[in-house]
Amino acid sequence: TTNDLQAYRASVLHFSNDPAFHQQAFAWHEDGLLIIRGGKVQAAGDYAQLHASLPEGCVVHDYRGKLIMPGFIDTHIHYPQTDMIASPAPGLLPWLDTYTFPTERKFADPAHAGEVAHFFIKELLRCGTTTAMVYCTVHPESVEAFFAESEARNLRMVAGKVMMDRNCPDFLRDTAESGARESEDLIKKWHKRGRQLYAITPRFAPTSSEAQMQLAGELARAYPDTYLQTHVAENTDEVAWVKSLFPQARSYMDVYDHYGMLRPRSMYAHCIWLDDADRVRMAETQSAVSFCPTSNLFLGSGLFDFERADALQVPLSMATDVGGGTSFSMLQTMNEAYKVARMGGTYLPALRVLPATLGGARSMQLEGTIGNFVAGAEADALLPTYCSAPV
Ligand code: GUN
Ligand code: ZN
Repeated sequence: TTNDLQAYRASVLHFSNDPAFHQQAFAWHEDGLLIIRGGKVQAAGDYAQLHASLPEGCVVHDYRGKLIMPGFIDTHIHYPQTDMIASPAPGLLPWLDTYTFPTERKFADPAHAGEVAHFFIKELLRCGTTTAMVYCTVHPESVEAFFAESEARNLRMVAGKVMMDRNCPDFLRDTAESGARESEDLIKKWHKRGRQLYAITPRFAPTSSEAQMQLAGELARAYPDTYLQTHVAENTDEVAWVKSLFPQARSYMDVYDHYGMLRPRSMYAHCIWLDDADRVRMAETQSAVSFCPTSNLFLGSGLFDFERADALQVPLSMATDVGGGTSFSMLQTMNEAYKVARMGGTYLPALRVLPATLGGARSMQLEGTIGNFVAGAEADALLPTYCSAPV
């Protein structure tokens, strides 16, 4: 409600900067207070300093012994793949053909889509994820079902209709024209409606014709404040396939660059098999990486190179990539991220949990809105009970 004041006493942890590059990157208040007014953060700090500012009679919710953090941000996930999580295959391409496409076919049915969207959002919230960048299927009905569920809970979600017009089964195919028209209709209906945001969603270069890539790029230019999400350089067979489909391109990432898809609010899942020229283009254009460690390990895709991404200051976020990913939990995702970094010779301090909150927000150009507790940010916070200690 608009002028309502709420105060929460607990340990408070949030980030103001990336610990990879800054000494003073986070705030930790052992006995902290988070003050919310009208759905926005008014202040976050030490209880001892802040409580005097509360008006007489204000109720303080007492969660001492527990931890308050900003809601987690999962920058790449497929809600239609909820029911096929942990389906094993020898690699990405057979996994798509064997499990993914048949599963996504069912989302032509709005009732099925609604049921899965409902379960999916409950599962995200159970894991402390309050914002996600979500793939729907090729069916516009799947997007309607998802946004309806998200809007009912007033969550800040980004989602979009998959565009794919080749190299996939007939039952999942749009056309360059229908894909662009349906995407534009959904943008007009859902983008910035309440907390909902739209992502233009060409699945990945192999499943879009040049005509579709062209129209997706044009949409991205016509609606510059929308998001764009796709996959890039996940798997070596996929990379070779893209090379044969787009022989004129310098690299896989260069295909997206050619169609004008590198820009702020563009989110690239995986980014394993990139070179430094690709990374430089991402940094220059503020296009972001969505690093998906549980998926990359499960499908055997490869190890993300933290060191090169950090060296070239590519915007970085983390994601589950369910159902290629094996967990809805960003905590589990961070656990696997740590191990992937170790295998690549990088040591990630525990405090680099940042990519799950502030890093996600930054890579989505939403800093100041979600991802930390600066004054004026949306009251988007977690009270993780699993962090509770005896009071
Ligand atoms: N590349 C194209 N489609 C997909 C998908 O659904 N999941 C993953 N992990 N990679 C993809
Ligand atoms: Zn994916």
